[in-house]
Amino acid sequence: MTVAGDVRLEGELVVLRPRVEDDLPLFARWHGDPDVRHWLHMSEMPDQSLEVERQRWSVVRNDPTRVSFVIETLDGVPIGNIGLIGIDVAHRRAELGIAIGEKDHWGRGYGTDAMRVILRFAFDTLNLRRLELITDIDNERGIRAYEKCGFVREGVLRAKRLRYGEPLDMLIMAVLSED
Ligand SMILES: CC(C)(COP(=O)(O)OP(=O)(O)OC[C@H]1O[C@@H](n2cnc3c(N)ncnc32)[C@H](O)[C@@H]1OP(=O)(O)O)[C@@H](O)C(=O)NCCC(=O)NCCS
Repeated sequence: MTVAGDVRLEGELVVLRPRVEDDLPLFARWHGDPDVRHWLHMSEMPDQSLEVERQRWSVVRNDPTRVSFVIETLDGVPIGNIGLIGIDVAHRRAELGIAIGEKDHWGRGYGTDAMRVILRFAFDTLNLRRLELITDIDNERGIRAYEKCGFVREGVLRAKRLRYGEPLDMLIMAVLSED
């Protein structure tokens, strides 16, 4: 996680600041919420204890192909996280991941604003040209937010994951810098 450094990115509703070790209890609480986990490919994983978060963080923080930000409201309340995974400088592409962990903040424009901010960072600062993501086929709120940010549906990945043991189709979406 080298490029996030002390970068602070401002949007209209949110500020993105680099994720730090002190955020781990917050992540454990967000990822421990069944309503949040439902959408995060975590349904088949053990409960997200602080120890599990610590182990994941030790990988993430040393991975130069990732950037990871905490999403804060303009008055400084942390409500979720957003990041780029698998930054590939040769092909100038990466995968986007986002979760608003405070579910009372869903559907209020924060996710869209956070994505617009990180898209600018990815295209203008990191000089990437393609961002992609995969999401559950029934994640209508997410898909709507991604489309508002310019992501286009590219295809269905059949039975891509299990959710509570049941195969689930997922949608791959992407946005290009020229979009
Ligand atoms: C997906 C997520 C990041 C979107 O962020 P958000 O702040 O909730 O989304 P926004 O408010 O910016 O935009 C949501 C849009 O979907 C619409 N929407 C809300 N609930 C909806 C629903 N149940 N069905 C369809 N559309 C819905 C909203 O009206 C809004 O569209 P509009 O601006 O045209 O009215 C956030 O909801 C979240 O973190 N969810 C849980 C975890 C998750 O799904 N992560 C992504 C995994 S790929």
